Amino acid sequence: MYTLIDSADLKAIKKIYEFFPIDGVTTNPSILKNAGTNPMERLKEIRAFMPHGAQLHVQTVSLTAAEIIKEAEHILKELGENTYIKIPVFDQGIKAMKLLHQMGINITATAIYTPMQAFIAAKAGASFVAPYVNRLDNVGFDGVEIARLIHDILTRHNMDTMVLAASFKNTQQVLNLCEHGIGAITASPSVLEQLINHQMTESAIEDFTNDFFSVAGEDKTMLDL
Ligand code: G3P
Repeated sequence: MYTLIDSADLKAIKKIYEFFPIDGVTTNPSILKNAGTNPMERLKEIRAFMPHGAQLHVQTVSLTAAEIIKEAEHILKELGENTYIKIPVFDQGIKAMKLLHQMGINITATAIYTPMQAFIAAKAGASFVAPYVNRLDNVGFDGVEIARLIHDILTRHNMDTMVLAASFKNTQQVLNLCEHGIGAITASPSVLEQLINHQMTESAIEDFTNDFFSVAGEDKTMLDL
C-alpha cells in the first residue's frame, strides 16, 4: 500500500520522512493555502526535498478541459517526473483526463464521493482515484465502505487504476482500508504518526531499558559490553 503524506507543511513532511517509509506527498489547493506561502515555491521545495522517484500529486484549479491541460503541462514543467496531476471529477475534468492520458501524463482523479465517479475516472485514464473517506463519513455515508467498493469494482474490471484513499480522521479508517488491500492512502502527518503510537509499546520499551540498565549499568547499551 503506497503511503503518502497529505500536507504542504515542509517541516512536518521532513519529520515524517525521517522516520516513516513514505512514497510521496499529496497536496490540494486548500492544503497549499494552509502552508501560507507561494504554492509553486512550496511545491518546488517539497520536490527538492523528496527522494528521487517519489510521487508528488498536484491539483489543477481550472474549470475547462483546455485550461486544465495547460495547467498540467505547466505543473509538469516546473515539478518534473513522477508528478501526478490531480483533477477533480466533473465533466471538463473527465475530458481533460482522457486527453492527458493520451499524452502519457499521470493522473489522480480527486474529490470522489461515489463509486461511479471513480469508475468513469478510471476509464478515462486516471492512475489513482481518490475517495474522501472522512468527508463521506461527515455527510452520513460510510467512507471506508465506499473506498472498498471502488477498490473491488476496479479489481473486478481489471482496471489499471488504484484507489488512493484520502481524507482520514483516524487510524481505524486507515486500518480498515489496509486490511482490504487498498492500493494507496494519503493522510495528514498527525494521522500517520498515530499509526505507530501505542502506550503499551512505550511502556514495554521503558521496562526493557530499565531492566538492561539494572543488569549492565546506567545508560549502557550492547555496545558497552
Ligand atoms: O486531498 C484530499 C484530502 O486532503 C481531503 O482531506 O482532511 O481536508 O478532508 P480533508
